[in-house]
Amino acid sequence: MKNLFIKKPISNSKIDIEPYCDNIHDTKTLKRSLGPFNLAMIGIGAIVGAGIFTMTGAGAAYYAGPAIAYSFVLAGLLCFLSGLCYSEMAAMLPVSGSAYTYSYATMGEFMAWIIGWDLILEYTFGAVIVGHAWGGYFLSLLEKQFAVHLSDGLLAFTRGPWESLLLADGSTLHGIWNAPGSIVVLMVGAVVYRGLKESTFANNLMVCTKIAVILGFVLTGWSVMDATLWKANPQAVGFLQFIPLEGSILKNGREVSGYGWPGVLAGTGVVFLAYIGFDIVATSAQECRNPSRDIPRGIIASLAVCTGLYVLVSLVLTGVVSYKLLGISDPIALGIDRIVALHGWSPEMRKLIGVLVKLGALAGLTSVLITFIYGQSRIFYAMGKDGLLPWFDRLHTSHATPHVAISTATLAIALGAGILPLSLVGELVSIGTLLAFMIVCLGIPVLRVTSPHAARPFRTPLPWLVGPLGALACIWVMSALPVDAWIRLALWLAIGIVIYFRYGMRNSKLRNSSRPSAGGGDD
Ligand code: ALA
Repeated sequence: MKNLFIKKPISNSKIDIEPYCDNIHDTKTLKRSLGPFNLAMIGIGAIVGAGIFTMTGAGAAYYAGPAIAYSFVLAGLLCFLSGLCYSEMAAMLPVSGSAYTYSYATMGEFMAWIIGWDLILEYTFGAVIVGHAWGGYFLSLLEKQFAVHLSDGLLAFTRGPWESLLLADGSTLHGIWNAPGSIVVLMVGAVVYRGLKESTFANNLMVCTKIAVILGFVLTGWSVMDATLWKANPQAVGFLQFIPLEGSILKNGREVSGYGWPGVLAGTGVVFLAYIGFDIVATSAQECRNPSRDIPRGIIASLAVCTGLYVLVSLVLTGVVSYKLLGISDPIALGIDRIVALHGWSPEMRKLIGVLVKLGALAGLTSVLITFIYGQSRIFYAMGKDGLLPWFDRLHTSHATPHVAISTATLAIALGAGILPLSLVGELVSIGTLLAFMIVCLGIPVLRVTSPHAARPFRTPLPWLVGPLGALACIWVMSALPVDAWIRLALWLAIGIVIYFRYGMRNSKLRNSSRPSAGGGDD
């Protein structure tokens, strides 16, 4: 139990990065190949995915109405506060591991373990959700756009064992394995395994494709938007009058209360998933050419671009389809159908647009997978380097990537995407991520007291306001999540604590080192 809260001095974390070099054959360190553009692309690649393509509809239909755009702004502000805190930490400690590394320096090893374990939850289960969504869009493309109909035997391999499908003859088909979801994860893992240069190129390509599709949606929809749809409820309130009055709404046969400002606030929790991933920019600090300058730029630029895109998409979507009709799994596809009809385009054009949008969604989801597998492997790598997890600090002799960490992350995500039900992981990812953001926000004022003289190449403005406000915002969104999510988080953390006491604590390099500075200050 002694030294449970031993802190890794900031100077120690910096020692970890001293031997860096750009030599491709240096297998002891990660390569420094990322500039600000690629970092922003990593951020956008991680952020825009399943959230915007699915949650916008449910958020509008059941919680906020057209004012889901406000929910996106609020969730964006929450992430912006956390992003500023991440930026300060990443600039101080430009090493792999992001929030895990920061909490090792500010709150000690045990808290660092909790955060690292929590980040594993965010990235692994986040990627499971995205793998699932990828499988769904792929099948929809095959069936609806290319009229490919799978036999019942093959259909059972498009859904996990907890899912079932009602067939045309009224019988029920039980799923066995979501093979498309697993296969895409394995393919993406293979790209990440080969190295960052290859994966940043693939990522940039995917990001450009999804931004093009989203902008295409916004531009073609903007000219046929009908603002009266925002006021479908005659007593709508607020700026532009697009917050419907508070009331109870039928959701999956159950009454839920939504609309009004409380609905806008609840919608913030619903669309939060759409922002998860910007913190991956900070996990890549060890591979940046100039992390102190570029990480803050990468985080802030990617959040600003994504918030803008999300607000535009929600305005157009609720301006072409009544928000009451949007509680479906593919609201953007419904929006596209409506835009095509409003423009009076031909059925061929409609088919072509359908194909382009689904390909864009697949590209978008693939880039989220790249960044999440990448981020997960870097967390494993950082924890492995500190001795808290086995093997993960090994780098590949020719690719210089943490290949054991990448392979493990890929296999775990592929397994999860194949068999886990979305209902189990959805809110778990949000609550786990919010916990990590909260701890980073609290770390800023803590570090200003414990390490007042440490070099801060990027300083969070008004740290005494931004840090606590960011933490409070996280707590507020967490409090809106159901009890189930809290129970699952507690279980996940309990498993992590057992592993820490059985393995991490005994093998911690910091704990076992004889450095006289261990556990001391860090300036
Ligand atoms: N932000 C990521 C997405 O929406 C998780 O897919």
